[in-house]
Amino acid sequence: MSLVSVSIHPLQVRDADTLAALYTANRDFLEPFDPPRPEGFATSAAQRRELKALERERAADRLERFLIRADGEPAGVISVSRISRGPFQNAGLGYWITESMNGRGIATRAVGLVCDWGFGQAGFHRFEAATLVDNIASQTVLRRNTFTEIGLSPRYLFINGAWRDHILFARTAEDSRPGKALSTADNRGQAPWGSWNRDRWAEQSQAQALGDPSRRAGQRLGLDLPQPGLRWVDRPKRRAAWPRCGSDARA
Ligand SMILES: CC(C)(COP(=O)(O)OP(=O)(O)OC[C@H]1O[C@@H](n2cnc3c(N)ncnc32)[C@H](O)[C@@H]1OP(=O)(O)O)[C@@H](O)C(=O)NCCC(=O)NCCS
Repeated sequence: MSLVSVSIHPLQVRDADTLAALYTANRDFLEPFDPPRPEGFATSAAQRRELKALERERAADRLERFLIRADGEPAGVISVSRISRGPFQNAGLGYWITESMNGRGIATRAVGLVCDWGFGQAGFHRFEAATLVDNIASQTVLRRNTFTEIGLSPRYLFINGAWRDHILFARTAEDSRPGKALSTADNRGQAPWGSWNRDRWAEQSQAQALGDPSRRAGQRLGLDLPQPGLRWVDRPKRRAAWPRCGSDARA
């Protein structure tokens, strides 16, 4: 299949049915990578509760989660968790792509979009991510987005029934100069973005900063933080004021 576009959208309570369907269809695929899930986690009711909790966490500037769409279709989730402000300005990344859409560069692009948002509007200085030692696909996604390997953390997370070793990665704002991810060769010496077209990307989608409570959370810390909340909308009139993110193109 030829991939046309990847975009990310802050999850809303109305996405509960979509998430329930995604988790149900991918239960077996995700099991080796997942923490313990409560009974009924993949139901619409449980996802509605999760998304209501997300609204509270978002308002407190503690958590953000995006629905990933590929060619407009729901394709996975990417989370920005353990948000720490003050002198750290750090958050953790977690993501997954539906089994049927694996291997099409979707995670690579979604991580790139979240990094653009995170180091831009959201004002983070550092993102970190951890992969199982044998999760080569995820390690490839991170390296292609200029994450650096920090090292092995033994028994880091309780995943699929055991405390499992993880490889930790991080990327700081200094590593994210515009265009760097485009020009950095991947670990096989190839450009990571194929025929990705920056102009078309900017043209096709835009992000609009919202006056959400997470900004007020930053202000309580006495920080003049960029806007942490983004909604991804089609409103060309305001394009010039929005960051360069949203979707991309690949032949
Ligand atoms: C990891 C994951 C997010 C990757 O998503 P994806 O959209 O398939 O990733 P991408 O296509 O952007 O990039 C993955 C790359 O790794 C490569 N890859 C995958 N498995 C590989 C393996 N075993 N060895 C070498 N390369 C591998 C893919 O071929 C692809 O490279 P390519 O573009 O040159 O073909 C997805 O597999 C997933 O959801 N896994 C389950 C949950 C998970 O692991 N989440 C991350 C937790 S840290």
